[in-house]
Amino acid sequence: MPPRKIIIDTDPGQDDAVAILLALAAPELQVLGITTVAGNVPLALTARNARVICELAGRPDIFVFAGADRPLQRTLVTAEHVHGKTGLDGIALPEPRMPLQDAHAVDFIVQTLRDEPPGAVTVCTLGPLTNIAMALQKAPDIAERIAAIVLMGGAYFEVGNITPAAEFNIYVDPEAAHKVFASGIDLTVMPLDVTHKALTTETHLQAFRDMGTRVGDAVAAWTDFFERFDKEKYATPGAPLHDPCVIAYLLRPDLFSGRHVNVEIELHSALTRGMTVADWWGVTPRRPNAMFMGDVDADGFFALLAERIGTL
Ligand code: RIB
Ligand code: CA
Repeated sequence: MPPRKIIIDTDPGQDDAVAILLALAAPELQVLGITTVAGNVPLALTARNARVICELAGRPDIFVFAGADRPLQRTLVTAEHVHGKTGLDGIALPEPRMPLQDAHAVDFIVQTLRDEPPGAVTVCTLGPLTNIAMALQKAPDIAERIAAIVLMGGAYFEVGNITPAAEFNIYVDPEAAHKVFASGIDLTVMPLDVTHKALTTETHLQAFRDMGTRVGDAVAAWTDFFERFDKEKYATPGAPLHDPCVIAYLLRPDLFSGRHVNVEIELHSALTRGMTVADWWGVTPRRPNAMFMGDVDADGFFALLAERIGTL
């Protein structure tokens, strides 16, 4: 069976880094390109970080593109308080030598979807949805060519992490999220409801420490840094490892469960901007537009991570 073609849109971020490593370690996946967006840290850093991660994985051949440096309408909100000043705090890695591609990320997304057969490419988003929304605005024809979008974002029962109502990726660019959720594209959503069940406990992290590889050491160091904020905030034995849930779903969908429901994005209230309003109990006539995940086999998830990342 030929590998599944994917585009990864990302704002690295330590958890994005683990997701990218998982994708690059998976023979089932062909990463056509990595497009970067402003989010956890500004674009210049996310575009740098994506290349640092590729070189750590021994993949300087991967095409990395810079995309939107701000949301469609809002002022950029970043998350250095979680990810550190560089976005990849926890371990010092060499500056990338591989090039950033000249094309804008949005143009790469549009052209790739037009060049590939309809339904051939899955888009995996790990950050704010600005690039995807811009691509849909620029080339509406690509909506029916995308096989699926698997995205990390949103929250319902787990409520917000950047405000009481909203999860960071959606909060940063709610207008972009609205465009994606209204697109009619097959959406699978990894909200905080599920990522908060994928906690980086000491047992799960030991596997990376035991690898004795540069990659294993980096993943352990990144999660050690990344988890301090959430462990204190949630008083949990580990931090949610959000973004790798997207890639793990492509490899082992059986690890996840959820419900196909309608999800709308709050755009107008300052109090609830970016909230993902999931009609979990079907109390509205609104058409279901997303597979909204709620549970994960955490042991299976971390075993997959360790097994695959251990091959790098
Ligand atoms: O809310 C968690 C999400 O925001 C993750 O994708 C993390 O990397 C940040 O982008
Ligand atoms: Ca991210």
